[in-house]
Amino acid sequence: MNCKSLLLLNLISMMTIQGARMTTRSTTYPINKLFTERWSPRAMSGESISDKELMTLFEAARWAPSSYNGQPWRFLYAKKDTPAWDKFFNLLVEFNQSWCKNAAALVVVVSKDTFDHNNQPSRTHSFDTGAAWENVALQGGLSGLVIHGMAGFDYDRAKKDLTIPDGYTVEAMVAIGKPGKKEDLPKELQESETLSDRKSLTEIVFEGSFK
Ligand SMILES: Cc1cc2nc3c(=O)[nH]c(=O)nc-3n(C[C@H](O)[C@H](O)[C@H](O)COP(=O)(O)O)c2cc1C
Repeated sequence: MNCKSLLLLNLISMMTIQGARMTTRSTTYPINKLFTERWSPRAMSGESISDKELMTLFEAARWAPSSYNGQPWRFLYAKKDTPAWDKFFNLLVEFNQSWCKNAAALVVVVSKDTFDHNNQPSRTHSFDTGAAWENVALQGGLSGLVIHGMAGFDYDRAKKDLTIPDGYTVEAMVAIGKPGKKEDLPKELQESETLSDRKSLTEIVFEGSFK
């Protein structure tokens, strides 16, 4: 395949309708649209999600690879309109609260620092848990849900308020919800409700040694 047809193929395969807008994410090499169609919207409708929808996401997480198949990931969640909601919501910085008020669930992602089989420290517990989170994000996209990772919250308070034991690391939070209208977001967030781009392969991939 020559360069021109490769480019055309990429453009066509990456064209996607997001709401009423046509947006594109172009790739240097063709990949499955699963990857390019995952993104992190903030607009959510405020509708609830079923336990089945939520558990489907964690089911996807379960199947992530991990060192020694240690599965260090743990997911703590609160659904909207349940007693635990405020505890989770109040961990978020004000900026994240401004759009997470329409989320259906909030999740705190935690990883276990040591292996179950020998109690030795795991070098990769965060790496492994990152893979599990990405499974949540990809499955969420396939299920038509908004999945949005967050670091903007009080990590220390999460540990305390959610009674997370020593030996576990708080990694991130995730907002989950049904897609909403961009117009319902605070004005300043409407502009950033778009697909983002990525660094080029040459900036992130090095042959032989670090460059
Ligand atoms: C670990 C992590 C933390 C993030 N923290 C926040 C956050 O606190 N608030 C926010 O609005 N977005 C947050 N994001 C979303 C990123 O900004 C977003 O994933 C990135 O810009 C790439 O865009 P995309 O996910 O739409 O491809 C976070 C994402 C990840 C994975």
